Amino acid sequence: MTATCVVGLQWGDEAKGKIVDLLSEQFDYVVRYNGGANAGHTVVVGGRTFKLSLLPSGVIRPNVTSVIGNGVVVYPPRFLEEVEQLQQHGFDLSRTLALSDHAHLIFPYHIEEDRLAESNGDSSIGTTGRGIGPCYQDKVGRRCGIRIGELFHPEHFRERLARIVPFKNRLLAAIANGHVERVRPFDAEALAQEYLGYAERLRPYVRDTCRLLQEAIRNGKRILFEAAQGSLLDVDHGTYPYVTSSSSLPAGIWSGAGLPARYITRIIGVVKAYTTRVGQGPFPTELNDGPDGYGERIRRAGKEYGTVTGRPRRCGWFDAVAVRYTAALAGADEITIMLLDVLSGLPEVKICVEYECDGERTTHFPSDAYELQRCRPIYETLPGWDANISSAHRLADLPTAARRYVDRISELIGLPVSIISVGPDREQTIRLGS
Ligand code: GDP
Ligand code: IMO
Ligand code: MG
Repeated sequence: MTATCVVGLQWGDEAKGKIVDLLSEQFDYVVRYNGGANAGHTVVVGGRTFKLSLLPSGVIRPNVTSVIGNGVVVYPPRFLEEVEQLQQHGFDLSRTLALSDHAHLIFPYHIEEDRLAESNGDSSIGTTGRGIGPCYQDKVGRRCGIRIGELFHPEHFRERLARIVPFKNRLLAAIANGHVERVRPFDAEALAQEYLGYAERLRPYVRDTCRLLQEAIRNGKRILFEAAQGSLLDVDHGTYPYVTSSSSLPAGIWSGAGLPARYITRIIGVVKAYTTRVGQGPFPTELNDGPDGYGERIRRAGKEYGTVTGRPRRCGWFDAVAVRYTAALAGADEITIMLLDVLSGLPEVKICVEYECDGERTTHFPSDAYELQRCRPIYETLPGWDANISSAHRLADLPTAARRYVDRISELIGLPVSIISVGPDREQTIRLGS
């Protein structure tokens, strides 16, 4: 009766999708509990690439039930599109995909609000533009939030939209600050019809997923939780305000899936062998060293462009100060080090071991963005390695310098390394632990 969680310990895109896919073979359920289609999880199997935004990475395994928990925010067209894409690849999800009736719905006015707020240069967060923040705002604000279950009461649903949409139109005009040409007003009845159309297509998947998971755990089923985003994007403990709007740490599971934390007995922290970040916000180890510098070399080798938005990801050295902070918050038992192959060919590799902040050295990670902005990294430099490691299967296949690098990260974080990834495919994996 135990569950496992896979969580990113940096700013997202740590290759959680690959780890979830690898592990899901040993699980009956794979569950998303936070975020929405701001996530982009890539799974590569035998040369075929699947990019999943809303659906859990377990959907590729026919024996796994995939669950979208109540803490996720759902844009129906995106959900249906992903389901259809998988159907075209021959996956039948009709009995293996469950969508919580308590998950909140994203409407086009949320996406519009996200877009308009982001175009206000000074307060831009660099969001994915998927309406995530505005939808969560409505959820906690209560007056305008609409849950999936409400789609199945058409009169009630129509009435709610009839009250909410005029307010949203006024809100959008206010955010556009007089630039009426920037605003597209919404029609409540047209929106109701559109969403009631989706309702019938969503119906086969909609369930009370909290009950489903509680029954599963009682029946001894094995559950794997897949966090979206990274711990440094967590709304409470991340680099606020440059974060997402949900709890991406395992703490989000209890509220976002309805399964008490006591069942989660294994927490796997996923890190890249370096660091990336998309969007605004401080990033102490960021490499801005020009077109021939390390930053650009890592971006090219790691194909570091956003899965969701295509934006170039900001790249930098591994930050042990930040990961020690998130590993403790997440309660990680072990770490998996991903994309180690990307660092091959660099003459040296660096790890940030301390910060210098206001003239003082510290190993404390200030999660407040304004404080973090003032921190400068203090590096330890290790020798690089030349060999192509992308077909390594055992630790012994790695050059000594690569092994030393992995060992040093493990030592600095104070956790064992259970998996090293040397390429996107399932096969390009070195398993060290269970
Ligand atoms: P997620 O959001 O945490 O699931 O990560 P993303 O899928 O957004 O980004 C990780 C990217 O790295 C994807 O394109 C993966 O296919 C790729 N990837 C995963 N593991 C490795 C690896 O070990 N080496 C390389 N070169 N790429 C990897
Ligand atoms: P996965 O699950 C990387 C970032 C955005 C932005 C901030 C807020 O693939 O790791 P939002 O649209 O959530 O309001 O944007 O969070 N962000 C991510 N960065 N990976 C993600 O997901 C992200 N989801 C959101 O770039 O900085
Ligand atoms: Mg991603």
